[in-house]
Amino acid sequence: MAEKAKILIIDDEEVVLDSCLQILKGGQFEIQTASNGSDGLQRVEAFQPDLVFVDLKMPGISGFEVLEKVHALDSTIVVVVITGFATVSSAVDAMKKGAYDFLPKPFTPDEFRLITRRSVERRRLMLEAIALRREKELLREQFASIVSHELKAPLSAVQQNLFALEFELEKTMSEDQKGKFERIKTRIGDMLKLINSWLRVITVDINKLKEGFKPLSITEPINAAIENLAMLAERKGIQINFSAGDLSPVNGDSLSLSEVFVNIIGNSLKYSPDGSTVTIMALEEEKRTKVSIRDEGIGIPPEDLPHIFDGFYRGKSGQEAAAGHGIGLAVARQIVEAHEGTVAVESTPGKGTTFIVNLPILSV
Ligand SMILES: Nc1ncnc2c1ncn2[C@@H]1O[C@H](COP(=O)(O)OP(=O)(O)OP(=O)(O)O)[C@@H](O)[C@H]1O
Ligand SMILES: [Mg+2]
Repeated sequence: MAEKAKILIIDDEEVVLDSCLQILKGGQFEIQTASNGSDGLQRVEAFQPDLVFVDLKMPGISGFEVLEKVHALDSTIVVVVITGFATVSSAVDAMKKGAYDFLPKPFTPDEFRLITRRSVERRRLMLEAIALRREKELLREQFASIVSHELKAPLSAVQQNLFALEFELEKTMSEDQKGKFERIKTRIGDMLKLINSWLRVITVDINKLKEGFKPLSITEPINAAIENLAMLAERKGIQINFSAGDLSPVNGDSLSLSEVFVNIIGNSLKYSPDGSTVTIMALEEEKRTKVSIRDEGIGIPPEDLPHIFDGFYRGKSGQEAAAGHGIGLAVARQIVEAHEGTVAVESTPGKGTTFIVNLPILSV
């Protein structure tokens, strides 16, 4: 926001415009006025105000229409409606449509000054929040690029050279040297896995994901995930039961949704004892698809529950039970939210855990 906030006042009554100018005079603000909606909208584009006062009732384009069009141009412009006929309902309607506040006519200079100050402050805060979000996004991109170029690339090169060296020395190495080689390889492999997980968390690009959405049956990514995890399930002798009701399609990206189910079902397998059962059910309820994944595993203590979807968080019992980076659920949640869905969890320590993925069905 420029040093002086820019204010546009749109009202068909000359006397109102004059008194507003009078009240705000003193050079603190840059002010323009318009006496009808269409002139006002033209000025919004040219003047780019921080704050717009608009009379709701004007001949021609109404204040409501101006409000909508201003926000279509720039949703961060703060709009305050002036209600001549002081009906609460039209003020409420305007606020529902995105007005920040309303000012009933007639108003006193103090009322007008106060609402102006508050609205300008609101605009300043909105712009600050946007700038912060952009900065965070930029940092995230920079971090991803550093991790990728300065860590992953050189480490992959080291790993590659190590493989070559092992191949060359294979016949001449003692058992002790082979053991050391194995340990180096394992450590480097683990570090690369960790780096890849970091990159996965910081590079889930929700907007890009949305571009590729298609109508699909939710059973598709669930089956893909079950297939992907079949070996792990077999190794632990865990039975996976999957049943689905009559389902409408959802709008989404099959590959990333199967990543969601691989992460959640993978946890069910990882944190459950050998020979137990994992039950997956997909149902439709109130225009939403509900997929529940229930296991008979170690469960999650209540104090861990609020944190398990945070990146890099691992529960204490989870750490004792199996290795991991605390990333699977963070990625799952980001993907589900990109699909306008939610993911919830219920758990009883020692008994088992149920994850519920809830997605909107495709509206026709
Ligand atoms: N089905 C489950 N049963 C018990 N604990 C679970 C279950 N799913 C998740 N958790 C707990 O939530 C934590 C976070 O899970 P998340 O999948 O994000 O990470 P992780 O499994 O530790 O590692 P990874 O990044 O390899 O998936 C786990 O460390 C574990 O404590
Ligand atoms: Mg996991």
